[in-house]
This record gives sequence, structure tokens and C-alpha cells, in this order.
Amino acid sequence: MSITVDDVSYAAGNTLIVNGVSLTVEKGKVLGLLGPNGSGKSSLLRLICRLRKVRGGIVRLGDTDISAMARSELARRVAFVEQQATTETQLTVLDVVSLGRTPHRGVLSQWGAGDDATVHEALARVGMASRASQLWQTLSGGERQRVHVARALAQSPSELLLDEPTNHLDIQHQLEILGLISRLGTTCIIALHDLNLAAMFCDHLAVLQRGEIVATGTPQEVLTESLIGSVFGVRAHVETSPIHGRCNIQYILGG
Ligand SMILES: Nc1ncnc2c1ncn2[C@@H]1O[C@H](COP(=O)(O)OP(=O)(O)O)[C@@H](O)[C@H]1O
Ligand SMILES: [Mg+2]
Repeated sequence: MSITVDDVSYAAGNTLIVNGVSLTVEKGKVLGLLGPNGSGKSSLLRLICRLRKVRGGIVRLGDTDISAMARSELARRVAFVEQQATTETQLTVLDVVSLGRTPHRGVLSQWGAGDDATVHEALARVGMASRASQLWQTLSGGERQRVHVARALAQSPSELLLDEPTNHLDIQHQLEILGLISRLGTTCIIALHDLNLAAMFCDHLAVLQRGEIVATGTPQEVLTESLIGSVFGVRAHVETSPIHGRCNIQYILGG
């Protein structure tokens, strides 16, 4: 389903953290959410899955205002991979990914072969099938991140939100995870720091600065030298990659 954010604001105390944000992600498209540290990316993602309540404005999934949805329905539809998700208890990788099925099971319904298949497929897709019985706490940071993506996939969401899912990942796994996400056909919003990866894998980009959207559009439209200068404070040279046809950013030192 599509995601529509309409004039959404959020404040902590008197500080406005998300300020009148509007954006749309069409069904099946991937939106990259960019912006410097503290610009409001994580806060906005939490508002979109109702982990935080908006101060003003409306978030819609398809035509439905999320504030009118039952918590259980929202949990079946939207998966969220948090920036610093931790899993404290003595769970195996398989246990953690199986948690993704929880919203789909009624109080009395048994774990089924379908659930098993979904969980194993999710593990295979992130390259962690051989680690199913390993304790989650013994994984490296990057492996934990991949397991959290697998849990989100096991949830079979219609909307998927990911907060810096490539943190801690080596370059091969960054490319694999973003490639996988972009091929899912699920409506996605991904907060990312790497502008080149955002250009390669996202259909559209939205840039946040101090809680406000300052640019939206295709990667080509958004990632201009002037925007990179004004929002990120970095000089850059932007060209079209002869390899993948998306924009390719080179940073200029000493600017
Ligand atoms: N509960 C809160 N109380 C006070 N300030 C907060 C709270 N939550 C977030 N902030 C502030 O809001 C800003 C945006 O944070 P965040 O959404 O995490 O940004 P990003 O994910 O883009 O780095 C930051 O300056 C952060 O310190
Ligand atoms: Mg963040």
C-alpha cells in the first residue's frame, strides 16, 4: 500500500522535532530518507508506524488514517527495523526471526508449516540460514542487523520502514540488503546516510533538515552539488555513473 504523510509534526516538550512534513511513497516504491544527524529521520519513521503519536497532521497507509487502525492491524502491516534494536534475552536467531510472525497469529492459532517456511525464507534471503540455532547475543553487529531485517521480512509487511539498515554492514552485505529491499516490491522508507547507495537503490529521495523536508524527487533531482553543500555542509562533484546510470557523488576535501 502507499504511505502518505500529510503535514505531520512532532515535538518533545517545547522542541519541534518534525515540522510540517508531507511526503508520499507510491505502492511498491522505495523512498530514501536522507538528512544530517539529528534532522528527525528516526522520529519521522516512528510517527509513521505510530510508535510515537503525531502532534499534528495525518499518516495514511493506502486510504486509512493510522490513528484509526487497531494496533493489531498496524502490527500485521507495517514492519520497522529500528536503528539500534536490541534483543536482550537468550534467543536464537531462529527465535528472533520467528517473532516476526507474532502479529499474524491469533491467540489460539498454532504455529504452522506456512510460518516455518516464511521464517526460513527470510533467513535465507539475508544469508543467515546456516546460523538459525546460534544465540543472537553471539552475533556480530552486522549479523544482528541482517537478522533484524529477516524478522521484518518474516512479518510479510505491506509497508516496511528501515532506520539505517546498513549500519555495521560490510560493503558486500550493504549492497545485498539494499538490493534485496529494492526488489521486494514492498512499499519502503529507508533512512540512509550513504548518498551514493541512496542514489543506487531508491526510486525517490526526501531530505530532512532540522525537522523539515527541504527536497524531494528522484535521486538525480535531489542530489545536486548545491543541496549537498547546503544540507550536509560538504563540497561535492556529482556526475552520472557510466556503470549504473544513477548519480555518483565524489566529495571534495578542504572545501
Ligand atoms: N524524546 C526526545 N526528547 C528530546 N529531544 C529529542 C527526543 N527525541 C528526539 N529528540 C531530538 O530530536 C532530534 C531528531 O532526532 P532523530 O529523529 O533521532 O534524528 P535522526 O534520526 O535524523 O538522527 C535530535 O536533535 C534529537 O536529540
Ligand atoms: Mg536516526
